[in-house]
Amino acid sequence: MAKTKTTFFCQNCGAQFAKWQGQCTSCKEWNTIAEEVIQKAEKPVWSTHESPSKRIAKPQRISEISAHSEARLDTKNNELNRVLGGGIVPGSLTLLGGEPGIGKSTLMLQIALQLPFKTLYISGEESAQQIKMRAERIQPNATNCYILTETKTKLIFRQIEEVCPDIVVVDSIQTLHSEAIESSAGSISQIRQTTTELIKFAKETNTPVILIGHITKDGTIAGPKILEHMVDTVLQFEGDRNHIYRILRANKNRFGSTNELGIYEMQGNGLREVSNPSEILISKNEEELSGTAIAATLEGMRPLMIEIQALVSSAVYGTPQRSATGYNAKRLNMILAVLEKRAGFKLGAKDVFLNITGGITVDDPAIDLAVVAAVLSSNIDVAIEKTMCFAAEVGLAGEVRPVTRVDQRILEAEKLGFTSIVISKYCKVERKDYAIHILKVSKVHDVVHHLFG
Ligand code: TYD
Ligand code: MG
Repeated sequence: MAKTKTTFFCQNCGAQFAKWQGQCTSCKEWNTIAEEVIQKAEKPVWSTHESPSKRIAKPQRISEISAHSEARLDTKNNELNRVLGGGIVPGSLTLLGGEPGIGKSTLMLQIALQLPFKTLYISGEESAQQIKMRAERIQPNATNCYILTETKTKLIFRQIEEVCPDIVVVDSIQTLHSEAIESSAGSISQIRQTTTELIKFAKETNTPVILIGHITKDGTIAGPKILEHMVDTVLQFEGDRNHIYRILRANKNRFGSTNELGIYEMQGNGLREVSNPSEILISKNEEELSGTAIAATLEGMRPLMIEIQALVSSAVYGTPQRSATGYNAKRLNMILAVLEKRAGFKLGAKDVFLNITGGITVDDPAIDLAVVAAVLSSNIDVAIEKTMCFAAEVGLAGEVRPVTRVDQRILEAEKLGFTSIVISKYCKVERKDYAIHILKVSKVHDVVHHLFG
C-alpha cells in the first residue's frame, strides 16, 4: 500500500505548506495551518464520458473560433437573472456565499422549485423532510424538483446520471466528500477536489451547477475564498439579519458585469423580489424631521433613492464620537472637516452619528451632498423639505462635484414624486424637459445658503 501522503493547508486562505508553522506566510493568520491527508485516486470520479485528455487541444486563431452565444437559462427570478447578467450560462459553476441564516438555502430552493425543467437539489445539511417542509411554505405544488440528501460525490454522480437534471444545486460545498481524498469534508483539499469534480461534470454535460458556500465571521473554517478562483461566478447574499431586506450581488462574473444588484424581502413564504427598491428605502413619515436627507444613488445600472439620517449633538465625553452605519466613516470625517473649514460650522465639539436606513451599505460618492445636508439639518434642527433630493460629490475644497449618469438619477427622482434635486453646476444634463426643478450649485456654502437661508 502506498504511503499516506499529507500536506499542510492554511484553513483561511488555502495556501499549501510542506511543514507545520504557526503563522500562515500568505495571509498572515495565526494557528490556521492544519495537516490534511491527500491521496490521489487512480481514476477520476466523474468519468462516464470519454476522458477529455484523449482529445488534444490545439491553438486556434481567435477569428476562427465561433462565438455562438449560448442561450442562457431563465431562472424565472428577475433579480437573480439581472445579477447573473441575463440568466444562468449552461455549463457554468456559480457559487453563492453568505453568512449562516441569511437565506441561501431558501433562495436556491425557491429557484429549484419554480424552474419549469428538471432540477436536482442536493443537500448535505438538511433531511428530505426538512426540505419538504420548507418547500411547502415556498411553493407547495412543485413537481419538477428532485431532492437528494447525499454527501459522497461518487453516489451523487450516479444519481445525476439516472435523473439527468437540467440544473444542479449543491447545498453546501462544505458538506461534500470525495473518496479520491481522505481528509474530512469541509477541509481545503476536499473542497478543492469536490469542486474540481463538479466543474468537470458541468463542463462535460453543459449542465449549470450552483454551489452554496458558507463563510463565517472570523473566517476560521475553509471559506469559499479558494473556490472563487475555480468557479465562473461568485454571488454574495448579504443583509442584516434583523432587517427583512437581503441584497444579492456578484463579486465575480465571467459572463456579465459585477455592478448589478438584486434586492429581496424575506417573508413567511420565502423571498419576494423587490422590483422598486426606492420606495421601501424611504420612510413614509408624514411630518418633516430634521437630520434626514434623500440621496439619488446608483447601484449598478439601477437608480436608487436612499434616506440618510444624521444626529448631531454636543459631545458628552472629551473626544467627540463619529459613527457611521452603511457609509464610510473616514469619508464622514472628511466631510465634517470640509464643513468646519469651508462652511464655518463648528462641529468639532459635537458627536455625529450617520445612518443609511434600510440596513444597506452605499459607497457611491454621489451621496456626499445628502450627507452634508443631513448633518447640517440636524445641527441646526431645521428639517429639509421632503420633496427635495441630492446627487453630488463633495470635494476637499468644499466644491460640489459632478457625478456619473446624472440623467438617470434625475429621472428616478422625478418618477418618485420629488419636486427638486440638487446637483453640481458642472453636471451635464442631457435632457431639458424635466418637470422636476434642477438646482445647480458649485460650493457647499451655496447649499447651506439655499437650504437654511
Ligand atoms: P436559510 O435559507 O436556512 O439560510 P442559510 O441557508 O443561508 O443558512 O434561511 C434562514 C432564515 O430564513 C431562517 O431563519 C428563517 C427564514 N425564513 C423565512 O423568514 N421565511 C421562509 O419562508 C423561509 C423558508 C425561511
Ligand atoms: Mg442553508
